[in-house]
Amino acid sequence: MNIIDIIEKKKRKIELSSEELEFFSKGTIEGSIKDYQISAFLMAIYFNGLTNNELYTLTDLIANSGEKITFNKKDKKIIDKHSTGGVGDKTSLIALPLASSLGLTISKLSGKGLGHTGGTIDKLESIPGFRTDYSLKELEEISEKNGISLGQGRKNIAYLDKILYSIRDVTGTVDSIPLIASSIMGKKLAIDSDGIVLDVKCGSGAFMKTFDRAKNLAETMVKIGKNHGRNTVAIISNMDQPLGSYIGNFLEVIEAYKIFCGEGDKDLRDLSISLSSYMIKLAGNNLESYEEIYKRCEDNLENGKALEKFKSFIAEEGGDFSYIESYEEYMKDEKFLDIIIEEDAYISSIDTEEIGKTALLLGAGRYSVTDVIDYKAGIIMYKKIGDKLDKKDRIARLYSSSDEKLLEAKDRFLKAIKFGNDINKKDIIMDVIE
Ligand code: URA
Repeated sequence: MNIIDIIEKKKRKIELSSEELEFFSKGTIEGSIKDYQISAFLMAIYFNGLTNNELYTLTDLIANSGEKITFNKKDKKIIDKHSTGGVGDKTSLIALPLASSLGLTISKLSGKGLGHTGGTIDKLESIPGFRTDYSLKELEEISEKNGISLGQGRKNIAYLDKILYSIRDVTGTVDSIPLIASSIMGKKLAIDSDGIVLDVKCGSGAFMKTFDRAKNLAETMVKIGKNHGRNTVAIISNMDQPLGSYIGNFLEVIEAYKIFCGEGDKDLRDLSISLSSYMIKLAGNNLESYEEIYKRCEDNLENGKALEKFKSFIAEEGGDFSYIESYEEYMKDEKFLDIIIEEDAYISSIDTEEIGKTALLLGAGRYSVTDVIDYKAGIIMYKKIGDKLDKKDRIARLYSSSDEKLLEAKDRFLKAIKFGNDINKKDIIMDVIE
């Protein structure tokens, strides 16, 4: 067997055997297959795709190419959740404690943010005292005690994906649906779970800009999950505007808290409840319909049980909840700049990726892995698509520790907002693939 024949076969759309893909994986990891050969192979996949068998085998090889994570879950079911990344996406902060308040055990590993989308770990670390560097054993103990724990993803999982992704990144082969699906699901399958709820973002702030591509990705990932014995559901959710109104780490914690207090954005609340409901359903709750579970989630948001769980989750991992309760006081030392509109207008569309990049510029994210985050930096949007603005209305407040960044960000923010009567506002949940 040799790599040139394997590339030739993929180039001619001839299905590769499992042995050939294993040969590719082994050679890539060991370094006997060179970067230019990996690049050619990835480009052949980019143009010719993968058959189902190839897709399942490649995903399996990625999943098994590093450390495998297992939780000692006793008789409990563990359901994982994953978002493909969006702007203002704080659903994990809401959906996980909410599902836990209804009895689902949560042990989850999450990532840090890079680029224009944020990471759950950074949002949690913005709460003074909150630690995320727990060992797996410690996470098990916390979730044994309190029903929920969340820690940083492990560095050594899915080693093959690290090599492939770094080459895809510089060879124009990132946006291939089978490569994205096998990359994401390979990492998910390296972590033991009984089911996976995926939130596939679609729109101007997402990786998938069109509905057709988002649906294709969602279907491909659900197919992979099921083939590997994991019950998998994907919600396709709209990212043509930021999710909710708060973007930035501590600001997003504030907005999550507002949802638990019965306030806050309806789209954010609806999507978080749906994610929670599917998690509970996948755990094997066949006694109730999705609608009944959804209703119980709503009840727990109203009766304070979900808020209690949110509080204990933060306290158990070292966070000081008083900073969240008195957030106005805590935010006081961050500089801000209000953006006022000078004419009557409607917001017709938002370039959400640009809004994410504006938050990044303000200090809310990282351009490279070594950057230090300003946890209080970010944006509150008071108006979104379809909202009418009267002259002198405040459309947004920008937060940063730097006056210079505030001024630069103002221009960038305004360029991302389009005004007019051609309003195209989509539902937050665009489809569900089961
Ligand atoms: N996220 C991943 O983990 N992999 C991809 O290929 C794209 C996005």
